[in-house]
Amino acid sequence: MLWLTGLSGSGKTSISYLVGPQLEQRGHLVEYLDGDVVRTHLAKGLGFSREDRDTNIERIGWVAARLARHGAAVIVSAISPYADTRARARAAVEEFSPFVEVHIDASVEECARRDVKGLYAKAFAGEIKEFTGVSDPYEAPEHPELVVNTEAIPPEASARRVIARLEELAVIPAGVEA
Ligand code: ADX
Repeated sequence: MLWLTGLSGSGKTSISYLVGPQLEQRGHLVEYLDGDVVRTHLAKGLGFSREDRDTNIERIGWVAARLARHGAAVIVSAISPYADTRARARAAVEEFSPFVEVHIDASVEECARRDVKGLYAKAFAGEIKEFTGVSDPYEAPEHPELVVNTEAIPPEASARRVIARLEELAVIPAGVEA
């Protein structure tokens, strides 16, 4: 169970879809739970208040635990801004599987510079309320299994770091070249 947390635009989604195929190559069944995707069905109708974000993350954690129970490799990519909510997801999953929390770290300034979806411009203009990092909190993990700073390296390099850490933690066997 790989949980990628970080600001919008930090690179979570790109990295998850680079890591997934490498896990498949190692024989894992991989499932993705991406915040943007989950919000189109499982979390449809939820907004960005603390309560709604917690509901979103609780649902993702619940599904992740169900999948992990059957040995699937689950990759979550969601802002998941609240530390105690992430801790609850960890506890639910750890009944069945190792939980590897990765902070995909990029500053608000860098994410706003990328602004792939144009949301930061709107958030700074006050058109989007409660925007993480701008007008809503992000609680960085204090003890994640890994921090990847994506400001200076491309997603492929970040993905390699994630795989290397999974090997180091012996969650996956070492040494299979992609
Ligand atoms: S979470 O906080 O509940 O974990 P999640 O990862 O599902 O968030 O969704 C974040 C995505 O929703 C962002 O990548 C962005 O595309 C979009 N979004 C829309 N409004 C906001 C907002 N106010 N804050 C953060 N993201 C938002």
